[in-house]
Amino acid sequence: MIEQFPDTLVSGIRIAQDFNALFNKDNIENIYVSGMGGSGIGAEFVYSFVKDELKIPFAVGKSYDLPAWVNQNTLLILSSYSGNTEETIEVLKKGIHQSAKVVVISSGGTMMRLAIENNLSFVKLPSDWSSPRACLGFSIAAQLGVLFKIGLISEKKWAELLECADFIKTESSQIQEKSKKLAESLFGKMIVIYSSERIEPVALRFRQQINENAKRLCWHHVVPEMNHNELVGWRKSDDELAVLFLLNSDDSDRISQRMDLTKDVVSHFAGSVISLFSKGKNTIERSLYLVHLLDYASVHLAFLNGVDPVEVKVIDFLKSELAAAKD
Ligand code: PA5
Repeated sequence: MIEQFPDTLVSGIRIAQDFNALFNKDNIENIYVSGMGGSGIGAEFVYSFVKDELKIPFAVGKSYDLPAWVNQNTLLILSSYSGNTEETIEVLKKGIHQSAKVVVISSGGTMMRLAIENNLSFVKLPSDWSSPRACLGFSIAAQLGVLFKIGLISEKKWAELLECADFIKTESSQIQEKSKKLAESLFGKMIVIYSSERIEPVALRFRQQINENAKRLCWHHVVPEMNHNELVGWRKSDDELAVLFLLNSDDSDRISQRMDLTKDVVSHFAGSVISLFSKGKNTIERSLYLVHLLDYASVHLAFLNGVDPVEVKVIDFLKSELAAAKD
């Protein structure tokens, strides 16, 4: 599934090209995207890709709540691969109640049914994928496509996504080689990920992929914020800790200096410190290059750990217990 990531970007772009809003596209004053887990992470990427040109506020929600400021001038995007995630369904119902301009992005389920019944706009994703987190390419392309078709982002930004799919394909064999080596150096360690705030979605994605694919705990934080708190926690040597620094060529000088100093402090205490550099000519390429490499690394780690990267039985268990508790 990970191998197909660039193809999912391309087919996601094709699917999104056909999107037509069923609401009045004028007067959109803000954007709110709601989704959980593998269907929520796409929104974090989309915001990080468009914030340099988007003129209106963009917020991401990962729970049952919908802020009171969401109204008839809000573009409300609901992202759930299955269409059956209860938090996102509840936000969808609240969005209808608060008269938001709703777009459902899903492969089916209750959410697609509600979208059709209520004459809402939607993007229908292919329904034959077993893992929502492997559908990140569809999710990013669909959300970015909705913003483009509504006229909220430039054609240049939209074109960058398509170019990125080609870029990742070109880099593919080198990415696979690097990911294997990285996984070997992280194997058996408690992994800590640090990145600049600009590419936090990449750090969060790797953390979630280590959790769900490699079945291990992990944490991440960002510079500069961690320089003001978490850094003080580095006082005790621990050989079990492997710290991965995700470095971005367009980080500002001050962020680069902070990264270097943070690395110096941390290397006195951690078992190992590894630096991984992004590649690409813009934020989309640099972020998704790292995502692809780290997604592969998470699967190599799963194999090294002797676990099945696909199953998430404990999430299924929790969802079914919660459904039973409702009846
Ligand atoms: O990776 C997963 O399976 C989860 O993180 C799901 O994405 C999450 O539980 C939400 O489900 P859905 O993507 O169907 O809304």
